[in-house]
Amino acid sequence: MRLSATLPLISAVAVILSIASPVMAQDRSELSRLTEEWLASPHGDYKSLSFTYWNKDGEVPVACAACHSQPGFIDWLGADGSAPGVVDHAAAINAPIGCASCHTSAAHALDSVPFPSGVTVDGLGPSAVCTVCHQGRQSGDNVMAATKGIADDTVSPDLAFLNVHYGVAAAVMHGAEVRGGFHYPGKTYAGRFTHVPSANTCVACHNAHTTEVATDGCVSCHRGVEDIRDIRTRHQDFDGDGDNAGGIHAEIIGLHGQLYAAIQAYGAGVGNAPIGYAYGTFPYFFNDTNADGQISPDEAIFPNRYQSWTPRLLKAAYNYQVVQKDPGGYVHNPSYMLQLLYDSLESLSERVDVKMTALRRP
Ligand code: HEC
Ligand code: HEC
Ligand code: HEC
Ligand code: HEC
Ligand code: HEC
Repeated sequence: MRLSATLPLISAVAVILSIASPVMAQDRSELSRLTEEWLASPHGDYKSLSFTYWNKDGEVPVACAACHSQPGFIDWLGADGSAPGVVDHAAAINAPIGCASCHTSAAHALDSVPFPSGVTVDGLGPSAVCTVCHQGRQSGDNVMAATKGIADDTVSPDLAFLNVHYGVAAAVMHGAEVRGGFHYPGKTYAGRFTHVPSANTCVACHNAHTTEVATDGCVSCHRGVEDIRDIRTRHQDFDGDGDNAGGIHAEIIGLHGQLYAAIQAYGAGVGNAPIGYAYGTFPYFFNDTNADGQISPDEAIFPNRYQSWTPRLLKAAYNYQVVQKDPGGYVHNPSYMLQLLYDSLESLSERVDVKMTALRRP
C-alpha cells in the first residue's frame, strides 16, 4: 500500500476509536460487528466490478478514482494532505470503500457537496460522504449543452448517448435542486423529497455499514403493506393503466415501460434507425439491426452502439436511464421520477403515437 493510503488509515482508526464509547472491550466487539457488516456489504465487496473493473490497467484513473477506490476518495477529500475537491493521482485497484473512506476528520467534517451541474448542496451531515459517490456523473445541463443549436428532430453525428452513471440516489433525492435529470424548458420539477424528518437523509434510512434499509420502520407509518414497493400515499393513476391499487413504484415502472416503447417507435419512425436498450451493457442503447424489438447479445456490442441521435431522442433516452439507474427512485423522489418520465413522453408524443390524455403529471 502506498504511504498516502496508509496514513489516513491510521488516523481513521484513531477517529473511529474516538467516536466509540470509552468502554474498550465493548468497543472491540462493536468494531468487529461493524467490520463484519461492512465486509458483507457492497462497499466491502472486493470482487465487485466496481472495484476490479480497472485491474487490467493496474490503477483506477483520476476520473474514476474518487468513487471507485478508497485512496481515491481520500485524495478527493484532501485527507491525504492534497487539495480537497479534486483527485490528483490515479489510485489503487482492489481498494473498496473501507472504514478509512468515511472516518477521517475530513470525511466527518464534510457537509457540502458539489453535483455535476455545479450546484452545491449544504447541510448534508453524515450523508455528505454518500452524496459524493451517489450523485452520478452527468446532469441535465450536459444534455442541454450537447443538443444546443441542433433542431429537435435532426440526426446529428455530433451527438452521443450521455450516461448519468449508476446508483444515482443523491441526484434523484435532491431533484430539481441539482438537475440530475433533463428538465424540459417551461416545466417545473420537484425539489428535494422531504418525506418525513425521521426518514429524510441517506443514513436515516440506510445503515451506513450494511447499506441496507430496515423496512419495519417504514411499515409503522405505511400500514397495510407487506412489500415497500406497494407503498403509495397518492391516489392518481399516473401511468394510465386504470389501476391505482399497487404502489407508486408500479406507476413509475408503467411510465418507464411506455417511454421505452415511445423511444423505439421514434427511432424506427422518425430517424429510420431502430433502437433498443441492453440492460447492463455500456453504452446501453444499440442499433436494433434486425428490427425485432430486442437487443440480442450480438447487437449489444460497442461498435453497434446507437449513433443516430436527434436532440429529442437523446433527452428522452437520458431521462430513461436516470430512472433505470435509481431502482430506489420511487422512495428517493417519486414525483421527480414521474415528472421526468411524463415530460419525456410528452416530448416524443409530438412525433409518435403516445396516449398522453390517459397520463397524469404530479
Ligand atoms: C461520482 C462517483 C463516481 C465516479 C466519478 C465514477 N463512478 Fe462508476 N460507479 C459509481 C457508483 C456509486 C457505482 C455503483 C452503483 C451501484 O451499484 O448502485 C458505480 C458503478 C460503476 C460500474 C459498475 C457498473 C455495473 O453495471 O455494475 C462501472 C463499470 C463504473 N462505475 C465505471 C466507472 C468509470 C469507468 C468511471 C470513470 C470514467 C467511473 N465509474 C466514475 C460512482 C462513480
Ligand atoms: C460509506 C461510509 C462508511 C464506511 C465505509 C464506514 N462507516 Fe462507520 N459510519 C458511517 C456513518 C455515516 C456513520 C454515522 C451514522 C449515523 O450518523 O447514523 C458511521 C458510524 C460509525 C460508528 C459510530 C457507531 C455507529 O454504529 O453508528 C463507528 C464505531 C463506525 N462507524 C465504525 C466503522 C468501521 C469500523 C468501519 C469499517 C469496518 C466503518 N465504520 C465503515 C459511515 C461509514
Ligand atoms: C467512495 C464512494 C462511496 C461512498 C462514500 C458511498 N458509496 Fe455507496 N456505493 C459505492 C459503490 C462504488 C457501490 C457499488 C459497490 C459494489 O458494486 O459492490 C456502492 C453501493 C451502494 C449501495 C448498494 C447498491 C446496489 O447496487 O445494491 C447502497 C445502498 C449504497 N452504496 C449506499 C450508500 C450510502 C447510504 C452511503 C453513505 C453512508 C454510501 N453508499 C457511501 C460508492 C460509495
Ligand atoms: C426514505 C428512505 C430512504 C432515503 C432517504 C434514501 N434511501 Fe436509498 N433506498 C431506500 C430503499 C427502501 C431502497 C430500495 C428500494 C427497492 O429496491 O425497492 C433504496 C435504494 C437505494 C440504492 C439502490 C440499491 C440497489 O438495489 O441498487 C442506493 C444506491 C441508495 N438507495 C442510496 C441512497 C443514498 C446515497 C441516499 C441519500 C442521498 C438514499 N439512498 C436515501 C430508502 C431510502
Ligand atoms: C413517520 C412516518 C413515515 C415513515 C417512518 C416512513 N414514511 Fe414514507 N411517507 C410518509 C408520508 C407522510 C408520506 C407522504 C409524503 C409526501 O408526499 O410529501 C410518505 C411517502 C412515501 C412514499 C411516496 C408515496 C407516493 O405515493 O408518492 C414512499 C415510496 C415512501 N414514503 C416509502 C417509505 C419507506 C421505504 C420508508 C422506510 C424506509 C418510509 N416511507 C418511512 C410517512 C412515513
